[in-house]
Amino acid sequence: MKFNGVGMSVNVIVGSQWGDEGKGKVVDLLSKDADIVARFQGGANAGHSIVLSGEKYILHLIPSGILHPQTICVIGNGVVIDPVVLLDEIRFLESKGIKVSDRLLISHRAHLIMPYHKLLDQAQEDFFTADKIGTTGRGIGPAYVDKFNRTGIRIVDLLDKETLTQKIQLNINQKNQILEKIYKREQLDAKAIIQEYLSFDKKMNEYIADISIYMNQAIEDKKRILIEGAQGTLLDIDFGTYPFVTSSNPISGGACTGLGIGPTCIHRVIGIIKAYTTRVGHGPFPTEFFGDMSDQMRELGDEYGATTGRPRRCGWFDAVIANYAVRINGLNCFALTKLDVLDTLAEIKICIAYRLKQKQITNFPADLTTLKQCQPEYITVPGWEKSTKEITSYNNLPANAKKYIETIENQVQIPISIISVGPDRDQTIFRAPFRLQN
Ligand code: GDP
Ligand code: IMO
Ligand code: MG
Repeated sequence: MKFNGVGMSVNVIVGSQWGDEGKGKVVDLLSKDADIVARFQGGANAGHSIVLSGEKYILHLIPSGILHPQTICVIGNGVVIDPVVLLDEIRFLESKGIKVSDRLLISHRAHLIMPYHKLLDQAQEDFFTADKIGTTGRGIGPAYVDKFNRTGIRIVDLLDKETLTQKIQLNINQKNQILEKIYKREQLDAKAIIQEYLSFDKKMNEYIADISIYMNQAIEDKKRILIEGAQGTLLDIDFGTYPFVTSSNPISGGACTGLGIGPTCIHRVIGIIKAYTTRVGHGPFPTEFFGDMSDQMRELGDEYGATTGRPRRCGWFDAVIANYAVRINGLNCFALTKLDVLDTLAEIKICIAYRLKQKQITNFPADLTTLKQCQPEYITVPGWEKSTKEITSYNNLPANAKKYIETIENQVQIPISIISVGPDRDQTIFRAPFRLQN
């Protein structure tokens, strides 16, 4: 029996809120024991931060396992790849002494981000002024549109100069019409873009592979695998706060379609969740702070986007959202991050339900008009007003910090197995020994 679960170690890590939950830190930490770390969706809209020896690394496309030298890092077919960003990231890592060559594999089925995707992303945002999404401007939406419209250009096309030239020319003929006639923008020079993309085969050839074959062989060989989501559950195209979402499936289900593996291989799903909530970009946010509290939390948590530098919106922890993430992703446990950011607060609120007119609801609504009418219902717990940044064991946390964690656990009914109290690897508390199998 191939997929009987025995000895398999396929761990999926997903964001449980609106992204930026600290996935990079946790994936890096757990990569110590991993053989393979794989991304399955999104693109350079992601910004995953890792702090190593006091230095911050922000990764956009390369999996956060790259800083551990024994890992192989994989970019699956579900990712949309901007070759310029990817090659820059490889150069940056190599300049820091981190070997990427021989350690990175990219799916030949992954789609490419083209210069016109970035232009269209911006042009559409400008066009819909009042209802703009507040995208990262990385061309993500337009690239996935082309993929689903069956006009996209894939990594495999880089290896066939004639096909690549034809496909780019055809796309630019179409995109120039849209850019000029709808968005009143300048036309693109097809020749220059073709020239640029024809040069990527040499630079990327060594990384290109059939990732489905590679991953399935690794699963059969009982390799320890970490699968790294980008964005978060509430940015999911199907289950997020549509239309204020990204254009992929960051939820655990996306790991299968984005890597070419079956659901029977996955043995654990870990949700990353902040001890409060943040969001960058537009869209509803029930527990959002306004005024001084918002500024205070942004400064305490250093809440500025890792990709765009935009200030993040901040709010209280929302258990309605946490429960929704448990359900949609089939979470086995949470890693709770940024607990230390709450260290100085005298009182902390947790949203346990929404009030909609006279009714209490605990299921996250699909419809934004309904969501906007929801008033959070809070319980208030006392703060601990002590630093947790140096604490490495659960028992040594202040009593009120433990109470906060256990109150959340009671709400979500799954364990909080990992607690992060700072950006460094060693600022982490494991409730029980946490091992990738094997
Ligand atoms: P990601 O997109 O989910 O990987 O998260 P980001 O890297 O965009 O944002 C998380 C930020 O919080 C980064 O600057 C991390 O270095 C930082 N961080 C992660 N965990 C902790 C923590 O427990 N405490 C504090 N203070 N910062 C953390
Ligand atoms: P990581 O992986 C937070 C948000 C954007 C915008 C919406 C759509 O670092 O958690 P897009 O460019 O994807 O079309 O933008 O999604 N967004 C993120 N927010 N973290 C991210 O990634 C994000 N990636 C996209 O701000 O609201
Ligand atoms: Mg981020």
